Amino acid sequence: MDEWATHYPMYAIGAEKGALLDAVLEDLRPRSALEIGSFLGYSAVRTARRLAPGGLMVCIEANPDNAAVARAVVDHAGVGGGVVFLQGLGSERLADAARLVAEAAGPPGAQEQRRQPEAASGGGGGGGGGGGGGGSERVLAALRREAAKQQLAAAAAAAAAGDGESGDAAAADASQQPPQPLQQPAQQVPNARVDYLFLDHCKPCYLPDLVAAEALGLVGPGTVVAADNVVFPGAPGYLEHMETAGCYATALLDAAHEVDKPWDPNWKMGTPDAVAVSLRW
Ligand SMILES: C[S@@+](CC[C@H](N)C(=O)[O-])C[C@H]1O[C@@H](n2cnc3c(N)ncnc32)[C@H](O)[C@@H]1O
Repeated sequence: MDEWATHYPMYAIGAEKGALLDAVLEDLRPRSALEIGSFLGYSAVRTARRLAPGGLMVCIEANPDNAAVARAVVDHAGVGGGVVFLQGLGSERLADAARLVAEAAGPPGAQEQRRQPEAASGGGGGGGGGGGGGGSERVLAALRREAAKQQLAAAAAAAAAGDGESGDAAAADASQQPPQPLQQPAQQVPNARVDYLFLDHCKPCYLPDLVAAEALGLVGPGTVVAADNVVFPGAPGYLEHMETAGCYATALLDAAHEVDKPWDPNWKMGTPDAVAVSLRW
């Protein structure tokens, strides 16, 4: 598929961004993943290869032809066993995705036995940015450090606001229970939280679909949310939400925009772009 993209337009994340997300996924090893916008299955194959054994990946794709090709591609790649495709808009199919994830997670209580989110592990340099390994701190470790810092700051702010708790006690509480969850309890599907959500569909849909995923409980503490093209074409409302919601640590992974036309001498190659990777705490 990467070879194809050097000859024809290919709206997949591509090799550079793919490698950045591979590194995050290799550290996360998600038991459950949700992708909105699968096109021909390129990112689905990369993600499905990095699921934990027995993991589930749900892919929502609006275009029925794309969904059919993507299904065939993940099967051809030998990773189709744990991948379910839902054809339709993200806004239409998120509730179905939540039910599928909850069914796979097992009866109420079983999810507690799943791996707990690790908000405060890791060490080394500052949070944000950075590549997928090598000399710099790995992205997921940096996000966990940043999330832990934000939790402590939120607890300190609550203590300073005079809630009657000491800073230490508030910090301890906050590490157990993040501040006001974004979910609306009436819509929540128990046990629907995914370890990984990848947004790569219509850019104005990122924010409303993320908010819907939060409301359904698909996104909760410990979920890693990745979003492509946040610089070009851009998703400013989405980035603002991640910055201001008060429960996400975010890193922007710089990489050129993935759609190039190397065969066109007039095409401006390498438009700057980034993938946003956020850890919900
Ligand atoms: C950039 S492509 C996805 C590329 C894919 N993630 C990859 O890296 O291989 C965007 C896809 O999102 C689909 N799409 C657009 N809007 C959508 C929506 N609201 N819900 C679900 N899929 C959507 C399009 O049909 C298209 O196949």
